Amino acid sequence: MKTVIIHGQNHKGNTYMIAHELGEKIGGELKEFFLPKDFDEPCRGCWTCFNKDLTHCPHYKKLKPLADAMDEADVVILASPVYVYHATGQMMAFLDHFGTRWLVHRPDERAFRKQGVAVATAAGGGMKSTVKDMYHSMFFWGYPRIYRLGVAVRASKPDEIPEKIQQKIHRETDHLAAKIKKNHGSFAPTLKTRVWFMMMRWMHKVFWKFEPDYSYWEEHGWHDRKRPWKSC
Ligand SMILES: Cc1cc2nc3c(=O)[nH]c(=O)nc-3n(C[C@H](O)[C@H](O)[C@H](O)COP(=O)(O)O)c2cc1C
Repeated sequence: MKTVIIHGQNHKGNTYMIAHELGEKIGGELKEFFLPKDFDEPCRGCWTCFNKDLTHCPHYKKLKPLADAMDEADVVILASPVYVYHATGQMMAFLDHFGTRWLVHRPDERAFRKQGVAVATAAGGGMKSTVKDMYHSMFFWGYPRIYRLGVAVRASKPDEIPEKIQQKIHRETDHLAAKIKKNHGSFAPTLKTRVWFMMMRWMHKVFWKFEPDYSYWEEHGWHDRKRPWKSC
């Protein structure tokens, strides 16, 4: 099993500790990237990815190693500390680059067989909104299973995390890793994904024929009876 972690920070603090622990417990091959060290570009808003495709993005050369690792992975972990109730700016800037992969545009077929995890740590509050920041991208890329792990660590560094909370973290990463390993290979999409897919299909066919999205869906047979979760 291949796992990739995108860390929404450069340093190895609370969030790194939890996301890395989970990655290790899942086992198999583990790749890790740190933002902004491994990708430091904010989206320019040039629309090239929407009008052509992601490979034409002016930042594609820097983005490619991370995008390739995610495309090849079975499990993608997006991890971020809570900064003012949301994911870090560098995580959000990274995710902006994948707008063209959202269901409404041109989702990658491989997305429909991945498991995703959104990990967030906070001193006390904001885990829910931060996890949601990352969950939204994975859901709209088409990931069929996404788990949320938000922890109030009550500390600024790992060695300050109270013992009771540390024990809870270890239990939760054990539980989640076991679940991910068990679910590896079974990829029925949730009802929510199916409903969103059918809504987007209907909008493409009836409502607006934005190119190159329309042709992409045509080529994949999604305007007919083919479905991305069946062809992979
Ligand atoms: C700029 C900044 C903003 C923060 N905002 C929040 C916040 O909104 N809510 C909260 O509970 N903790 C907040 N914190 C605390 C961190 O989220 C918390 O200590 C986290 O576990 C740090 O993870 P790290 O060690 O991976 O950086 C903030 C910390 C920083 C540096």
